[in-house]
Amino acid sequence: MTAMIGEAGTRDAQEAFDAAVAADERIEPRDWMPDAYRATLVRQIAQHAHSEIIGMQPESNWLTRAPSLRRKAILMAKVQDEAGHGLYLYSAAETLGVSRDELLDKLHTGRQKYSSIFNYPTLTWADVGAVGWLVDGAAIINQVPICRCSYGPYARAMVRVCKEESFHQRQGYELLHTLSKGTPEQHAMAQDAVDRWWWPSMMMFGPPDDESTHSAQSMAWKIKRHSNDELRQRFVDICVPQAEILGLTLPDPDIRWNEERGQHDFGAIDWSEFWDVLRGNGPCNEERLNRRRQAHEDGAWVREAAAAYSEKHDRRTERDRHAEHDQHGKAQA
Ligand SMILES: [Fe+2]
Ligand SMILES: [Fe+2]
Repeated sequence: MTAMIGEAGTRDAQEAFDAAVAADERIEPRDWMPDAYRATLVRQIAQHAHSEIIGMQPESNWLTRAPSLRRKAILMAKVQDEAGHGLYLYSAAETLGVSRDELLDKLHTGRQKYSSIFNYPTLTWADVGAVGWLVDGAAIINQVPICRCSYGPYARAMVRVCKEESFHQRQGYELLHTLSKGTPEQHAMAQDAVDRWWWPSMMMFGPPDDESTHSAQSMAWKIKRHSNDELRQRFVDICVPQAEILGLTLPDPDIRWNEERGQHDFGAIDWSEFWDVLRGNGPCNEERLNRRRQAHEDGAWVREAAAAYSEKHDRRTERDRHAEHDQHGKAQA
């Protein structure tokens, strides 16, 4: 593109791009955009899409063991939603000139990442509740601002995703509420799940602002609207009163209301654990990737059948068009 439009053209295009971003307009697939902007979006949207589909695994673990038909139906709907989120996001990434095959290959070979949160195991039924309340809750806080992202297809995909995430968060909250107000054993199970998921959820907002490598540029491009630490603070402020209603304790003795700041203070995060899980040493990294690769191989026949069907369909339309053309010719003769 750059070579075709020449140096002056690139300058004009860059100016038009900058003006659109400054005016809060959307950048669309056919618009000129800087290579680094495109690359950042591909990386972020792909990582987001991968997280949606890998995120199906920890919860699908409980589909066959849900304690009632009602709970099973809810969980099935939720896990299916996550598959749908993956599809919207892969489609959004494809508008930037990459293919889904290419992205999946990068996931399977470890060249692209997914959110580290899914490398933790779901040990009890209460984990389904804690994941919904905390993990989907954190996801919403991250994703609501992306509805105003400068790249149109990504922003639009997020509108529906966020509506569905809010259902996910509520089902987790309601599940934990039921357990917490149930027998002492159920309450203990809910508390244990919250104890294990709290800190990993806090890490979902990414490293602190002064260590976050991509943040400043993404904010300037309006891909990102708030810093990691701002979003993390919002999460704590939302969770504290909800935990009170649930009758559960957040496993951080340093959480307290700070009158001066009008926000909650909270304890220090163990970032060594975050970097370790990111490096592939989390409890389930290998299991998740192996399962994903296996699912991809198992689905090969579906992709082949779909491709064969689409080819047949194209051939038929082509033949019908020729037949129509011939008949038209005869009628005129
Ligand atoms: Fe999702
Ligand atoms: Fe979700």
